[in-house]
Amino acid sequence: MKLIFSIVLSLVSSFIFSQNDSFIPGKEWKDTNGVHINAHGGGIIFVNGVYYWYGEYKTAGRGGNTSLQGVSCYSSKDLYNWTNDGIVLRVENNPNSEITKGCIIERPKVAFNKKTGKYVMWFHLELKGQGYDAARAAVAISDNPKGPFKYIKSYRPNKGVWPMNFDDKFKSASIGEHQLKSWTPEWLEAIKNGMLVRRDFEKGQMSRDMTVYVDDNDKAYLIHAAEDNLTLHMSELSDDYLDFTEKWTRVAPAGHNEAPAVFKQDGVYYMITSGCTGWDPNEARSFSSKSIWGLWESLENPCVGKDAALTFHSQSTYVLPVQGKKGQFIFMADRWKPDNPIDGTYVWLPIQFDKGKPILKWFDKWDLDFYNN
Ligand code: DGJ
Repeated sequence: MKLIFSIVLSLVSSFIFSQNDSFIPGKEWKDTNGVHINAHGGGIIFVNGVYYWYGEYKTAGRGGNTSLQGVSCYSSKDLYNWTNDGIVLRVENNPNSEITKGCIIERPKVAFNKKTGKYVMWFHLELKGQGYDAARAAVAISDNPKGPFKYIKSYRPNKGVWPMNFDDKFKSASIGEHQLKSWTPEWLEAIKNGMLVRRDFEKGQMSRDMTVYVDDNDKAYLIHAAEDNLTLHMSELSDDYLDFTEKWTRVAPAGHNEAPAVFKQDGVYYMITSGCTGWDPNEARSFSSKSIWGLWESLENPCVGKDAALTFHSQSTYVLPVQGKKGQFIFMADRWKPDNPIDGTYVWLPIQFDKGKPILKWFDKWDLDFYNN
């Protein structure tokens, strides 16, 4: 009887709530059970007609930014109505585990590997009780998009390997650089010239805010905030996406970028990022490059109109190619609520282009017909 009741309840609730037919940026977004979607700092893949949205599962209260559950997954066929598929990477109770309950898991991104047939999840991992010092990239694997994902390990990428095209003269410290005062022009110059790459050479480079980008040739890259968030690193992943090839480069040295999201249109690579102001919104930046390896040229703030200087009160997390609409993309961002993280909302906006530059304009409400106009 109890079972029949819960089946009827779930059918009724999915009938009542699976009614979204548009995006309403920044507002509560109910899943097919009528519960606000809980998949922050997320990314989306498309497999066999279904979109899967992975994100940080946040909880209520100030401690809700630490991971008490793990990574959630939602699925959808239309991008408006999302079914909760539960926690697909679970934090562990074992206090010795790297992903023990209370660690920090941020910005999970999943890629499907055609060669191995596996789903590979990368995320930013901070070890429990160590704040943001560990700065590791972590990887998990699954046979199924809905998980369960099995945790493999975490890395400080590119241990003992110099970036490509790194001038020999920058491989050893210049005299007095460690005495430089932070944020002075001399200090910024030293950062540009690899002071922090050298500092982290033996230990491995930092990996905080990150994304994964899979290119048309199936090569995948981890783009991660390194060097105390001052420089992004672009690190090529191995063919199985589980490790690094040790081919890597620096993007926008000393540019202080977080929240990278990469996409490609007409053979040109684009990246949208944010500045670094914790959970507070700031002005987005954008870049383009003819090669994934750079040179990434700055295109300035892609947002226009009211609140453009605050990315419409949000921070980038991913750029989603819209299926069936070649060259069309959705910008996905988070409106964080650090005091009650579970209430964080999502800002999704269509990306428009003007003279080779991505443009983001605010819409109170929009739908996929936007791309037909
Ligand atoms: C900004 C980052 O983009 C978020 O993912 C998170 O790490 C916060 N900083 C923490 O303050």
